[in-house]
Amino acid sequence: MDLPSRHFGPRPLDPIPVEDGYVAGYQRIRVRMLSPTIGGELEGIDLRKPLDPDLYAEVRRALLQCKVVFFRDQPVSPEEQVAFARHFGELEVHPFLPEGESPEVIRFAKDETTKGVENNWHSDVSWREVPSLGSILHAVEVPRVGGDTLWADMAAAWKGLPDEVKRRIEGLEAVHDFTHTFGLAMSPEELAKKQEEFPPATHPVVRRHPETGEQILYVNTIFTSHIVGMEREESDRLLTFLYAQAHIPEYQVRFGWKNDSLAFWDNRSTQHYASSDYWPQERVMDRVTIIGERPAA
Ligand code: SIN
Repeated sequence: MDLPSRHFGPRPLDPIPVEDGYVAGYQRIRVRMLSPTIGGELEGIDLRKPLDPDLYAEVRRALLQCKVVFFRDQPVSPEEQVAFARHFGELEVHPFLPEGESPEVIRFAKDETTKGVENNWHSDVSWREVPSLGSILHAVEVPRVGGDTLWADMAAAWKGLPDEVKRRIEGLEAVHDFTHTFGLAMSPEELAKKQEEFPPATHPVVRRHPETGEQILYVNTIFTSHIVGMEREESDRLLTFLYAQAHIPEYQVRFGWKNDSLAFWDNRSTQHYASSDYWPQERVMDRVTIIGERPAA
């Protein structure tokens, strides 16, 4: 199949309707969109306190609608971050990333000796058989300038694909594997052991969101290795084209962190990229990841 050279799809975006600067229909919080289809800043909430059922329902609705939600001025402790995350599901313990103050907290600590390597488009732990619902990232210490994170709306990316590409990829499955990321730093013995523990996972190339019903392009640069049953060259060519959809600015939102900002994203419908432009400045972030469900087409 010939792949189109022009990436941004033939269809207009479906922007989230906004009235007087805010998304309509919320009583307990205010939701201000930072981009037409993805990224809402939530106001009127203190994440150090437990969520009552109505507040929880509004945050969950905002997450599904905006795909990534942002909060400012939330000086949460790691325990409070974990407690907030637990409202949304069970938490995972990442087997490869550095632990923070408790096993469920990953600490990304960068400085002049440790460069950021999260500057690749991905969806967290898509290499797991049961990947993540979402991740919650708290900015502990941010650089004076730089260190933004970008998210891409992978439902908009799916919608924007030309019809012939949609027809080609619907029903396909792809293999996701940690080997070419976390595996690179391991000895052959350790890698073999971890591969046994975490074998490659097969997921639909186009998954359906279990809560919104949206179709989502679910392949990413760092964890997807190939499309099942396709010649390697054809699989590489198709995946390169599909990965590039996340690079399209019209599908993205970019967030500039301040200390105690917090982002909560849906790993089922988005991919993210942490800009590594701040070295050698310090950047310290704590992430908690919520377990999701097995992706289905
Ligand atoms: C991540 O990839 O989960 C980290 C994102 C960031 O540090 O901004």
